[in-house]
Parts: sequence; C-alpha cells; structure tokens
Amino acid sequence: MALKATNPTTTNSWKKLQAHFETIKSQHLKDLFKADADRANDLTVEWDDFYADFSKNRITTETLDLLFELANELDLKDAISKYFEGDIINATEGRAVLHTALRAPKDAEVLVDGENVIPEVHEVKKKIEDFTNAVVNGEHKGYTGKAITDVVNIGIGGSDLGPAMVVDSLQFYKNHLSTHFVSNVDGDHYQEVIKNLNPETTLFVIVSKTFTTQETLSNANSIRSWFLESQPKEAVSKHFVAVSTNIESVKNFGIDEENIFPMKDWVGGRFSLWSAVGLSISLALGYKHFESLLEGAHKMDQHFKTADFNENIPVISALLTVWYNNFFNAESEAIIPYTQYLNQFATYLQQGIMESNGKSVDRDGSRVNYQTGTLIWGEPGTNSQHAFFQLIHQGTKLIPTDFIGYVESLYGNKDHHNKLMSNYFAQTEALMNGKTKDEVLSELKGQSLSEEEVSQLLPFKVFEGNKPTTSLLIQKLSPESLGKLIAMYEHKIFVQGIIWNIYSYDQFGVELGKQLAKSILNELKNDDSNAIHDASTQNLLAYFKKCC
Ligand code: F6P
Repeated sequence: MALKATNPTTTNSWKKLQAHFETIKSQHLKDLFKADADRANDLTVEWDDFYADFSKNRITTETLDLLFELANELDLKDAISKYFEGDIINATEGRAVLHTALRAPKDAEVLVDGENVIPEVHEVKKKIEDFTNAVVNGEHKGYTGKAITDVVNIGIGGSDLGPAMVVDSLQFYKNHLSTHFVSNVDGDHYQEVIKNLNPETTLFVIVSKTFTTQETLSNANSIRSWFLESQPKEAVSKHFVAVSTNIESVKNFGIDEENIFPMKDWVGGRFSLWSAVGLSISLALGYKHFESLLEGAHKMDQHFKTADFNENIPVISALLTVWYNNFFNAESEAIIPYTQYLNQFATYLQQGIMESNGKSVDRDGSRVNYQTGTLIWGEPGTNSQHAFFQLIHQGTKLIPTDFIGYVESLYGNKDHHNKLMSNYFAQTEALMNGKTKDEVLSELKGQSLSEEEVSQLLPFKVFEGNKPTTSLLIQKLSPESLGKLIAMYEHKIFVQGIIWNIYSYDQFGVELGKQLAKSILNELKNDDSNAIHDASTQNLLAYFKKCC
C-alpha cells in the first residue's frame, strides 16, 4: 500500500502549532527552565545506553504534544509499519526500502513480492563472514602466495561514505589490515592511494550498487591497469572482488561470480553500509564487530518501531527538525560529536539527510509550499569550537545543534576526557544562557576600564543565548552503539520525509549533472564544437581547452 499524501500545512495540528509558535517564539530557554522544575526530566529520554536530553530546545511539553498530534494526523504509525514491512514506499522507483531487513535476526520474516528476504540476507552475511575470516586469518592469499595486508574500497556516495565513516570511527577496534578508500574520479586521488601499495598483498573491493557509476568504474579500470602492469591476468581473481546488484556488468568487468557479493535494489545506496557494501567494514574490523554494528542498528529499529512517540528518540528528534525548519525558519542543523573518532560523521549524514530530503515535489507530484530538507554540517568538538562556533553563538542565524558525547573514552585518559566533556557541557549551557548586559557589565567593571570603554565594548560582549541544542550522551563508542546512532538518524530521515510529504528514497536531482558531464566529456575528448552552451560555460570550456 502506498504512503498517504497530505500536505502537512493543511492539517489541524499544523494550524495549532502555528498558533502555539506565536506564544513561544520569543520565550527564552532560561525562562522555560525557571517556569518548570521538571523540564529537564520531562524532556529527556533514557533508552538502553543512550541519554537524550531534548530540554535545551525551544519547546514545552505542549509543543511536543502538538508535534505528536501532527505525526498522528499524518499517519506516522501506519507509515512506520509500511517501512518495516517492505511496502513500496520508494514509489518513484517502485521499490521497498529495507535496510532494516539487513540487520533483522535470522528468524524474522520480511516479504518482498511475497518472498521472505531474510534467508538471502543471512546467506550474504555468511559469505561476508567466511571471506572476512579467510582474509584476516591469512588463508585467502594473493596470487603470489602472500597474505593480504591492505584493502582498498573503490566506490562513491553510499558505496564509500558509510564504510569509510564506520572504519574511521571504529579504528580503535581495527585489526592488522590497512584500509584505504578511493572515491573521487580525480585521478590524483587513486594515484595517491596506490602509490605505496604492493599489488601482491592488496585486495580491491569495487563497490557500486548499479555498477554504472562513472567515478567508480574509471577508478576500478585504472587501478586494474596499474595492477596488471606487474601481475598476470590470472591474479585478478585473488585481488579483486565486487559488491553490486548488477551481476552481469561485474562479470563483464572480469570478476569471477564467486567474488561477487550481491545486494538488492531495495537497499538505498546511502543506507547500504549494513549490506555487502559493508564488506570493507567487516574486513577492517573483523566480522564479529560488523555483526555488533548490525545488532546495534537492530536494537534502534526495535526502539523506533515500538516506543511511544514521547519516548521515541528518532521521532522526537525528527519532529524537532520540523519545528525549527518550518516554524522558526531555521535552515541548517549542526552535528557536533565530542569524539575525534566521529570526524566523518557529519559528512556521512550529509548524504543520508540531504540526498533523501532535498526534495521540492510532494507525494502527489505538486510543488511543496513549505520548506523541506535542512542543510547539515558539523565537525568534532572541541576543534569546531575554535572554527565556526562563533557564528552559532553570536551570528544572526538560528542553528539547532546536536551534541553527541560519550561517558567513557576508549583509552581511558580521564584528564583529557574530563576536559573534552567539560566543553561539551559548557557549550550547550553557554548557547542556552548566553550572557546578559548585567553579567557583561560586572565582568568589565573588574577590568579597570574607563566608563566610555565599558559602554563601547558592552554590545559586542552580550550573548543573546536561547540557541537550541540536543544533548545525546552515550555510554561508550563501540560497534553496537555506533550502529544505534546511525540507525537513529536513518529513522529521523524517514520521519521527516513522512511529515514533509515527500519521497525520501530517490535521488533524481543527482542525475542531471551526471548526464551533462557525460556530454561535456565527449566535447573535451573529441573537440566537438557544435554543442550549445551558455556563454559562461562556453568561455570556461574554451579557456580549459586552450591550455591542455
Ligand atoms: O550520488 C548518487 C548516487 O546514486 C548515490 O545515491 C549512490 O550512493 C552513489 O550515487 C553511488 O552509486 P553506486 O553505488 O550505484 O555506484
């Protein structure tokens, strides 16, 4: 059954939210805390090893109730069932959206076209497990009999960002294999990666759902040519494996069928790290850790599926985005992990969130008359504090920010961890409280400045505060807790798409540039001067061609 299509702005709850917004928009978070002694507890959800404090958001319990009413009016519960049960909710591509099935247990049943997909999911997982063990234990040897030391993932978008982010985030749990990622069609990228590699001990994992992506195929071809400069053709089967839905094209590329790890078209690229696309994760961390990652995601799936909305972390988090995006007109959201390990997390989520919800046509095919997907950005704290936090504190834009912190550090350096986390706590407090005129005045008065100097400095030193943040405190960074965290954002994306009445699982917008690039490439190669371009592009092409 298709998803229902209702313009959210036409619902009763949207109108109520609009009226409620007028009463809350100028209230300061400090006053909301003063007015309600239970606020911090009432607006916090504790689940498993997650502590999600939503109380520093510009909401009251009434706001949340109205947002839940909106979710109910838009049949979110029904949509969640359809999502998990394999309905064709990616209607524009005629597909189910089943990354959740990839982490479901063996005894689960999820039907696609009347067939339970779970046995095949577990068959592929077994293949990943066996191959991982063989490579990690050194049983799978290179053509010349040497054990594999390096793994290169060749892919782009979802076939790169997820595996690259997870391997980097969980490097503490890594085994002896060195893992590398080649994504950009920029030839300098692959050259830099392979320059120190020994072809005899390197395994290349070509990852492309479609196996038609220009970047990935160009990199795979160039790397294979480099490999064949020193190795015979027969060596390819020991050193190249592929992950794809497009088995025929992979075979045509020259990869043996037994070296193909299949995936299904109901796995979207940006949600695919749980599938065979995660092969590089499994190789880098060992299969057990890959399995824990999946188990964590499955736990979050269960939480999302079963928890009431007022206890449901992804639901609340998604509705808050709607609140800021559509009522406060906030355009972006920052994601700040207080761990250097999650260095690539915001970049990874940029694809997940912006490729999914960067849509302007609703599920009826009409242009939306409200805002949809937000801009996502972020870097780890404390580095980001010394880079762009000034704008969040004192700029003109409202930027709701997720703070992700961990109770324990991995190497256990208490001194550093206390320093790191004191910043995590201090920033959310500072963003909320700001600094009043009186506070600045008393601070400046202690600094032996003239009255004139004090009044000159005063306006620059005042912080309005009232900047919304969500604090997510997790016990410890582990494969399981990372699985939960990623799945939390995946479900947040889904809820937002349901509320905004858009299709979150296609990405037609990416196609236009790809098509144009193809025809321009022909012009660059063949000097085809008949093509018609705008004057700017014409000049740029002429300038480029003049010098090479
Ligand atoms: O950027 C568009 C896109 O289709 C992404 O959705 C996808 O993750 C990426 O290209 C790579 O696609 P493929 O895995 O088919 O090479």
